[in-house]
Amino acid sequence: MYSNGNGRATIGAQAQTGNKLTVPEIRARKAHKAHKAHKGTGAPLAMVTAYDFTMARLVDEAGVDLVLVGDSLGMVVQGLVNTLPVTLDEVCYHGRAVARGLARAHMVGDMPFMSYQSSPYKAVESAGKLLKEGAFESVKLEGGEEAAEQVRSIVRAGIPVMGHIGLTPQSVHALGGFRVQGRGEEAAARLLAGARAIEEAGAYALVLEAIPPDVAERVTASVDIPTIGIGAGSACDGQVLVCTDLLGMVKGHAPKFAKRYAELGDAIVDAVKRYVGEVRSGTFPAPEHAYKPNRAEPDESGPHTLEVAPMVAVRH
Ligand code: KIV
Repeated sequence: MYSNGNGRATIGAQAQTGNKLTVPEIRARKAHKAHKAHKGTGAPLAMVTAYDFTMARLVDEAGVDLVLVGDSLGMVVQGLVNTLPVTLDEVCYHGRAVARGLARAHMVGDMPFMSYQSSPYKAVESAGKLLKEGAFESVKLEGGEEAAEQVRSIVRAGIPVMGHIGLTPQSVHALGGFRVQGRGEEAAARLLAGARAIEEAGAYALVLEAIPPDVAERVTASVDIPTIGIGAGSACDGQVLVCTDLLGMVKGHAPKFAKRYAELGDAIVDAVKRYVGEVRSGTFPAPEHAYKPNRAEPDESGPHTLEVAPMVAVRH
């Protein structure tokens, strides 16, 4: 056990509180679920994506168990049509920002397209970079049986891996679009085989994306690691949503599983419209938003405290 003497991590400078949820604790949530009927315990895992410090701090305060810096950042942050162009350096950049906002949630970094597919060696190198330069605590990669060797090699290097099967967006062209997977017995059997292969290779958890709920239930029952569903029904050991979907910040078509818990998109447009209106009408800024003028009369309230002009209105 080593310490840098000040109790803080050196990369990402995470909020290190000693309360971080660990991989063994996440794995153990599966066991809790198995005993749920007897003990009445075992809350499903709640995971959400985040891509920056501000969102990370808010979702951590809300009590999520895991935060994923997904390669969905290509679509959510960069406005791309799919996740394929996202790079390892971009995931690391967002990882360092997110890490600074997390006091408790475990932080997972997505391995982008072509950072692991070509060989187990490349996979280990890329996963190592995510931990060294992105401040991640575990990594996630897509694929079933075909990705098992990569998972095994990364785990051997001491890096925890989360699997991801079903709709795997990095294979969007091979799959013919973003569509439900595992329909029909043959496809369901392939998913089950993939789940077992990923578990056997040493993954600590498994994302199930866009598969029928009965197939997700069979997969969940057939592995001893927690399954985390997105569009996979309620039988999974946890759920994950993209933060901007959950918060209602997305316009246009959204998948049916993307429940909106708020309408922040409308709230933001409304707030900014009011700001624009007040700037144009001259009602903002009002005197209370300005510093004391140089020509102000000295008041009788005693010595003045120093005026501080923060670059942004946050307190750290
Ligand atoms: O990239 C991502 O956000 C994901 C989740 C949807 C699981 O992979």
